[in-house]
Amino acid sequence: MTVTKTGAGVPLYDHVAVYAAAKSRIDAAIARVLASGRLDWGEEVPAFEAELSDWVGAAHAVTVGSGTGAIKAALKALGVGPGDEVITVTNTDIAGSSAIRFVGADVVWVDIDPATRNIDVAQTEAAITPRTRAILPVDMYGHPADLHALRALADRHGLVIVEDACLALGAEIEGLKLGTIADVTCFSFAPTKHLGAFGSAGACVTEDAALAERLQMVSAYGQSRTRHTANFAGGGAGLFHETDGLNERMDEIQAAILRAKLPDLDASLAIRRAQAARYGQRLAGAGIDLPGEHGPVRHAWRNYVVELDDRDAVRAQLGDIGVGTNTPYAPPMHLQPVYADLGCRPGSFPQSERSCARLMGLPLGPHLDLEDIDRAADALLAVV
Ligand SMILES: Cc1ncc(COP(=O)(O)O)c(C=O)c1O
Repeated sequence: MTVTKTGAGVPLYDHVAVYAAAKSRIDAAIARVLASGRLDWGEEVPAFEAELSDWVGAAHAVTVGSGTGAIKAALKALGVGPGDEVITVTNTDIAGSSAIRFVGADVVWVDIDPATRNIDVAQTEAAITPRTRAILPVDMYGHPADLHALRALADRHGLVIVEDACLALGAEIEGLKLGTIADVTCFSFAPTKHLGAFGSAGACVTEDAALAERLQMVSAYGQSRTRHTANFAGGGAGLFHETDGLNERMDEIQAAILRAKLPDLDASLAIRRAQAARYGQRLAGAGIDLPGEHGPVRHAWRNYVVELDDRDAVRAQLGDIGVGTNTPYAPPMHLQPVYADLGCRPGSFPQSERSCARLMGLPLGPHLDLEDIDRAADALLAVV
């Protein structure tokens, strides 16, 4: 894939450049959907699901309207609800915690392993109670959580795992892409993700055919997709809603765009990995905590997230010279106003808080080349 840069500086993202790199395919995909007259319930969604499950190496993929929707649908499809507890982390996007509360369950946060910034397995085990139904690990910034250990723990205690892999499409453990270890693995195709839609989109993957069927139903008004498609086409037997459901469907245009972009995903992951390696070489020994790969894993490098003490001052200086940075995700969820009722305070999850206070995402992705990475690294070295 060839991307032409559209401006000076080293931006975190460049949607125009990413669009330009696959413009003819994307334009053709959109035109195909518009000409078909099927903006909904058409052929692009099932075709993308087949291509995605094939790429991931999972048995089933069910597309939804967002990564957040994927987690909500997964919890609902697994029957997690009032009275249940779900263990997750706080140093992340609100999607997991809000989905847990959305289905009526209680969120139970535990702290992270500071090396991977993923859920701490020993603390997860210590947090299990008779009410625990599920574990919701998040593969932070693209580094897989310790899923085999979590799977063993979940199996011992009769729990399900809903994995938030929204930052980790293409990450691997022992040579296998994420998507087959958790009961449901959730992906986001938000525009800044590895495989970005031009709008909101997500997917669940699972090995369980019956669960895939429930995921389809839950994400589409509680009605089976076959039935709804038949009704939509005018040949159905009328409405038949079997369960409470969401309207969390991927639309045909996003599915067609994602189909057009999927063939570039392997190349874009290779670019991300080469850029992360370059940052690692350039920034080693500069007193910055650098991310790495821990265990038999391959990182998916959604961002290159370093940690440093005077983060805010460094960010400001980098911003002044056109190097984009971000702070994904801070402050942590347990300190957000929406969760004040849970009674957490500074100090409740020290490792998560320390990481969130020090982290800084650096530009990385197929809109950049290695010279851009060198420029961003040099800029950072000049200000620390
Ligand atoms: C870790 C994580 N989980 C879930 C989500 C939610 O994805 P979406 O924005 O597609 O709802 C995000 C989005 O950035 C995320 O970073």
